[in-house]
Amino acid sequence: MRPILQINDVSRTFKLGGMFFGKKIAAVDQVAIELPGDKPQIMSIVGESGSGKTTLAKLILRLLDPSSGTIVLDGVPLSAYNKRDKRKEFLKKVQPIFQNPFTSFSARKTVDTYLFETAMNLDVAANKKEALAVVTDVLKSVGLEYAHIKGKYPNQFSGGELQRISIARALIPKPSLIVADEPVAMIDASLRMNIVNLFKKLKDEYNVNFIYITHDLSTAYYVSDYIATMYKGNLIEFGHARNILNNPSHPYTELLLDSIPRVGKKWAEDALLADFESKQESEAGCKFAGRCPYAKDVCHSVEPYMVHLDTEHKVLCLKHNDYKTGNLAFVHKNSNHSDKKDNSHSISG
Ligand SMILES: Nc1ncnc2c1ncn2[C@@H]1O[C@H](COP(=O)(O)OP(=O)(O)O)[C@@H](O)[C@H]1O
Ligand SMILES: [Mg+2]
Repeated sequence: MRPILQINDVSRTFKLGGMFFGKKIAAVDQVAIELPGDKPQIMSIVGESGSGKTTLAKLILRLLDPSSGTIVLDGVPLSAYNKRDKRKEFLKKVQPIFQNPFTSFSARKTVDTYLFETAMNLDVAANKKEALAVVTDVLKSVGLEYAHIKGKYPNQFSGGELQRISIARALIPKPSLIVADEPVAMIDASLRMNIVNLFKKLKDEYNVNFIYITHDLSTAYYVSDYIATMYKGNLIEFGHARNILNNPSHPYTELLLDSIPRVGKKWAEDALLADFESKQESEAGCKFAGRCPYAKDVCHSVEPYMVHLDTEHKVLCLKHNDYKTGNLAFVHKNSNHSDKKDNSHSISG
């Protein structure tokens, strides 16, 4: 069974500042992810603000082009959709859900207009009557009645209702992938789980994959089949959600997991890892070294490479890299870490 999504060493750089003295930043830096296609999946992309999640989402949605690397959806490279007449074909396969439902809909248009237009424009319905059947159906799938939304404007709905309508709209072409960038960030905390639970239900009902981008860890770990953690543009850990939960293998993921228990927890608020003073960042070495509680000298000078811990679990951290010095075991507070047993070489003791 071929993968539903292959992200092949994708990078996207932005130029900051002036023409000549500007700096380049890699918003997405050599990211490689493969999402299996045997059954529909929910992959969460987690990471703090600025880690490159939205840029990666935009690359998958073809709203941005990669600086290097390729993205292949269901066996078809995204570049195949570049021709004008292929744009509709792409929208039938991949649909977005954005963070702010109030800006996804124009204030001057009734929301049902959007649904009817999508059904007609993407050739799902040939006439108004067919469109009505489709619209009624997708609304029911997200727990709404057509009669309830008919003729109403966006400001007559709550954020949660509007986001449900966004999801209903995304379902209309029966896409293979829905990319949702922080879809519950602006929703009342008490309603977030309801929306995210919808993804789980719709995944099987519509046979659709979800990429769920969030910094709300509690929802991510609950809903995901796969979890990708990003840090400063790098994919630093990827794997089956269960493996990530039971065996977080990057120090950053480990710290994030430590911060989960409270519902609705957010990075920005609580998980800034205040215990670990952020050291001045150097150009060389691991990007996380300055904040890593396990960092050794080598972490500030040697760049880690991605290691597969098993077929579906990979991590970008020097403690899993095989390098010559040999006397660099990392001591973990988590006793289930395999390398803790081998502390005979530990520097820190
Ligand atoms: N259009 C752009 N021009 C310049 N820099 C950008 C642009 N878009 C994103 N960036 C930068 O790329 C990095 C990643 O941003 P983003 O993908 O929005 O991260 P996230 O969604 O995880 O918060 C940030 O440093 C951001 O400032
Ligand atoms: Mg973002």
